[in-house]
Amino acid sequence: MHTPTETGTKIVGMGMCLPEKVLTNFDLEKIVETSDEWIRTRTGIQERRIIAKGQATSDLASEASKQALKNAGLKASDIDLIVVGTITPDMLFPSTACVVQRKIGAENAACFDISAACSGFTYALSIADGLIRSGQYRKALVIGAEALSPFLDWTERSTCVLFGDGAGACILVSTPQKEKGIIASYLGSDGTYADILGIPAGGSAIPPTHESIDARLHTLKMEGSEVFKIAVRTMCDAVFEIAKRAGMKATDIDCLIPHQANLRILQAVAERVEIPLEKLFLNLQRYGNMSAASTAVAMYEAWEAKKFTPGSNTVLVAFGGGLTWASVWIKW
Ligand code: ACO
Repeated sequence: MHTPTETGTKIVGMGMCLPEKVLTNFDLEKIVETSDEWIRTRTGIQERRIIAKGQATSDLASEASKQALKNAGLKASDIDLIVVGTITPDMLFPSTACVVQRKIGAENAACFDISAACSGFTYALSIADGLIRSGQYRKALVIGAEALSPFLDWTERSTCVLFGDGAGACILVSTPQKEKGIIASYLGSDGTYADILGIPAGGSAIPPTHESIDARLHTLKMEGSEVFKIAVRTMCDAVFEIAKRAGMKATDIDCLIPHQANLRILQAVAERVEIPLEKLFLNLQRYGNMSAASTAVAMYEAWEAKKFTPGSNTVLVAFGGGLTWASVWIKW
């Protein structure tokens, strides 16, 4: 146990891993009654990545983690905390974080998963930030990783065209500097909407049976238009709230990294928070909605594209099943 002498946290390395297989909208035209035109105009998505047979969430997460460690100049044994945001764990338990620990050899880490759907990486970052600030940990590996494709109903066009698989990771460390790094975070939830987005079966409420499988209850269900409306409202609220907590204004944001669910949601959010769309980092056209992995992969790609100049302000904002929403303000 460390004493809480340090006062801040900063990101010192990032990584990502995407499956090789690309599934385009044109490929989907052969699977369900849909069209490239419908998917592109309603969502902005053009293609997504799909895991190979035998690949699991922890495989993507481990590769993203190795890259993040390399970029941070750290060894896996330096890490004392692993938090994985995922709703598609390798199995119900042990946690995917423990599986990642074994795969990368991070023998000194405490490990657990966070279930907050698409907000999972932003939640994980906020939790790791709090645990480091409390003095209990110094170097955290924070991951957003999903293999959603095995949990999609590939006969249901309203959901199967939206999602993809992938993982992003970052290394968060303690720092005596307070004015840089993670400046503020905000988490929210509303369980009254628990039924509009989720995978109904496979847990204790509806354990797996032949009937539950025949009824496709182990696949993702979503009331799309209801989720759409709440997404716009909660993401806007989360942007305004994080700006308030950081002592800044929404217009001070230089790079907004939103959860990549739907381009139309993001256009509506950008308009309402009065941030030009060019300041949003978008990759949903290439990867679709990767749930918790979306913000993690987008953050990595924005970093690689040199969007995080010294002194600039980045905000991560996400919402997802639960319902949950979250935002984090980072100063570089
Ligand atoms: N191809 C062609 N037509 C389709 C498809 C498709 N893939 N999917 C649905 N349609 C049809 C519907 O059947 C409907 O037809 P009808 O009018 O004859 O009944 C019509 O298109 C319109 O359907 P809507 O659901 O009203 O379409 P909408 O414009 O709302 O777009 C969408 C649907 C893309 C799902 C949108 O509602 C959305 O993005 N919602 C938010 C989803 C989201 O953000 N999820 C994030 C969280 S995910 C998580 O937490 C894991």
